[in-house]
Amino acid sequence: MENSLFLTFSSFLFVIHFVPLAASTPSYLSFLQCLSKHSHPSDHILSRVYTPNNSSYKSVLQHYIRNQRFNRSTTPKPDIIFTPLQESHVQVAVTCCRKTDKYLKIRSGGHDYEGISYVSNISFVLLDMSNLRSIDVDIQNETAWVQAGALLGELYYRIWEKSKVHAFPAGVCPTVGVGGHITGGGYGNLLRKYGLSVDNLIDAHIVDVHGRILNRGSMGEDLFWAIRGGCGASFGVISAYKLRLVKVPDVVTVFRVVRTLEETAIDIVYWWQFIAEKIDSNLFIRLALKPIDEKQKGTKTITATFVALFLGDSRELLSIMDRDFPQLGLHIEDCKEMSWIESELFWASFPNGTLPDALLNRKPGAKFLKRKSDYLQKPIPKDKLKSIFDKMIELGDTELVFNQYGGRMSEIPEWETPFPHRAGNIFKIQYAANWGKEGKEAENFYINQTRVLYNYMTPFVSKSPRCAYLNYRDLDIGVNHNGNNRYIEGRVYGLKYFKDNFNKLVKVKTLVDPDNFFWNEQSIPPLAA
Ligand SMILES: Cc1cc2nc3c(=O)[nH]c(=O)nc-3n(C[C@H](O)[C@H](O)[C@H](O)COP(=O)(O)OP(=O)(O)OC[C@H]3O[C@@H](n4cnc5c(N)ncnc54)[C@H](O)[C@@H]3O)c2cc1C
Ligand SMILES: *[C@@H]1O[C@H](CO)[C@@H](O)[C@H](O)[C@H]1NC(C)=O
Ligand SMILES: *[C@@H]1O[C@H](CO)[C@@H](O)[C@H](O)[C@H]1NC(C)=O
Ligand SMILES: *[C@@H]1O[C@H](CO)[C@@H](O)[C@H](O)[C@H]1NC(C)=O
Ligand SMILES: *[C@@H]1O[C@H](CO)[C@@H](O)[C@H](O)[C@H]1NC(C)=O
Ligand SMILES: *[C@@H]1O[C@H](CO)[C@@H](O)[C@H](O)[C@H]1NC(C)=O
Ligand SMILES: *[C@@H]1O[C@H](CO)[C@@H](O)[C@H](O)[C@H]1NC(C)=O
Ligand SMILES: *[C@@H]1O[C@H](CO)[C@@H](O)[C@H](O)[C@H]1NC(C)=O
Repeated sequence: MENSLFLTFSSFLFVIHFVPLAASTPSYLSFLQCLSKHSHPSDHILSRVYTPNNSSYKSVLQHYIRNQRFNRSTTPKPDIIFTPLQESHVQVAVTCCRKTDKYLKIRSGGHDYEGISYVSNISFVLLDMSNLRSIDVDIQNETAWVQAGALLGELYYRIWEKSKVHAFPAGVCPTVGVGGHITGGGYGNLLRKYGLSVDNLIDAHIVDVHGRILNRGSMGEDLFWAIRGGCGASFGVISAYKLRLVKVPDVVTVFRVVRTLEETAIDIVYWWQFIAEKIDSNLFIRLALKPIDEKQKGTKTITATFVALFLGDSRELLSIMDRDFPQLGLHIEDCKEMSWIESELFWASFPNGTLPDALLNRKPGAKFLKRKSDYLQKPIPKDKLKSIFDKMIELGDTELVFNQYGGRMSEIPEWETPFPHRAGNIFKIQYAANWGKEGKEAENFYINQTRVLYNYMTPFVSKSPRCAYLNYRDLDIGVNHNGNNRYIEGRVYGLKYFKDNFNKLVKVKTLVDPDNFFWNEQSIPPLAA
């Protein structure tokens, strides 16, 4: 043990002291030379480059860090940050990284839960897409072209400017980046009516390993299939998406109701499992289970919060709830009617009365985060639910969020897109720990909690494979080191994220990027040549 520690430590010194000075400095300069050589002088391409000795490097890097766990002085940093202003800059970046043997990390909104868009143990160039963020909404044709660096809130705002009865099915949090979100699947409160973001994607621009810009026609249907949920970062850099907009009514209804254990939360959650998949597809209800400390009473309990979006008015909603889910005891006073854009503000937890302009704010506050995911296919018996609640109270800080499936999700075949979690799933479960305390000790404490609860849930969730949602990135379920075992390693997390679609993703990868230039810690591996 001591011996191996010593070895690791001395090889660490070796790496620090010798490799960068000997090898990395020239390759870094040759990267800059390559950029100049492959661009027009009037492009001033070097003005898009930040090296660690540049005074803006730190703020450019931190601007799209959305998880404090990866905002430390000890977090590995990019050798170079490159911030393209146009698609041709992306082409040059890919070409020059390849020529000078540099790994490329692609970051759009920076919301990756494990930070893999901007952190790596292997030295890399960071391609920051945040300046490529135009949004072009065509209401007549019910489509929009949106560049990768735009954020979901900006997309919703630009649609709303042109129409109050159109929307796009994607996540609730307005600062999530379009770039990573859509190609990872992308779900939000319209998923039971319209499916995922990828189910409403009609075209894209991708810069491939040869530096070419391809659209749906020129990339072909297999690659277009792969980037609809398989994560584009394994295949190229997506610079823009063409979306199919969807219709929403003038008036929608929301509610947020909270039930505690004393208010029979266990019964309500128990019954919800039997109805969730089948209930009217105009309705989406998110259920969050949260352990809370009732300090004044000196007791601990669980709150079950039901948050809903209904595509219709409150009378219709109430009649559906009375008929199909009376256990919740919803009242007309719980229901609030509003426009779709107001419902987005409500879901994003803005205070009542906030104007839609709030969706244009690019900078949220950030905490330390850890997420894991599971799929629930069979209702959990009541006594087992009770034991899960007890476990959550014992652990104290990890929340479970149940996102209802069914509706449109059950109509789309598993192989239609790489995202395979369709019919037969009642809920996707998210494990969520958020904390504000600095330090490794706190981090280990909270992350360990999520893992303990995840292990506790094993008997109740999907098996062989135990499925996971790509956009809830979780390096606990496997990491790729791009060595001789890259395929074996890739299969471990690949089957969890994609089930049998993993095999087709590998085929596409082998065709379009056989040398694995577009590698990351959880990328799709090519087959060996
Ligand atoms: C607060 C919060 C709320 C969230 N809510 C939801 C939700 O409601 N629904 C949901 O589905 N998910 C949700 N997520 C997860 C989110 O969808 C993913 O983290 C998503 O990948 C974020 O995209 P990004 O561009 O912001 O992330 P980034 O960190 O920039 O990228 C994520 C991944 O995509 C790759 N990537 C990014 N841009 C490109 C590109 N242009 N071309 C190719 N590859 C690219 C990156 O390399 C990385 O692997 C949430 C995350 C957070 C932090
Ligand atoms: C930092 O980088 C930017 C962009 O490349 C450049 O314009 C600026 O002059 C650099 N500043 C310093 C101090 O090197
Ligand atoms: C800083 O980076 C520039 C390239 O942008 C390089 O020419 C210069 O030598 C570097 N300076 C130091 C002190 O490393
Ligand atoms: C990262 O740290 C800087 C201070 O160094 C701080 O200003 C910024 O808000 C932090 N960002 C996140 C996401 O923690
Ligand atoms: C990166 O290195 C750190 C420190 O050695 C290690 O804890 C971590 O697991 C590594 N990450 C990956 C993805 O290999
Ligand atoms: C709608 O799409 C058609 C064909 O795709 C195109 O010819 C037309 O110009 C578009 N309409 C508008 C208003 O742009
Ligand atoms: C917002 O607040 C106003 C005034 O307090 C109230 O009349 C209105 O019903 C509230 N709307 C919602 C959606 O809560
Ligand atoms: C993780 O948490 C569990 C339960 O609280 C505890 O028993 C265990 O020792 C912890 N493990 C680590 C590695 O901290």
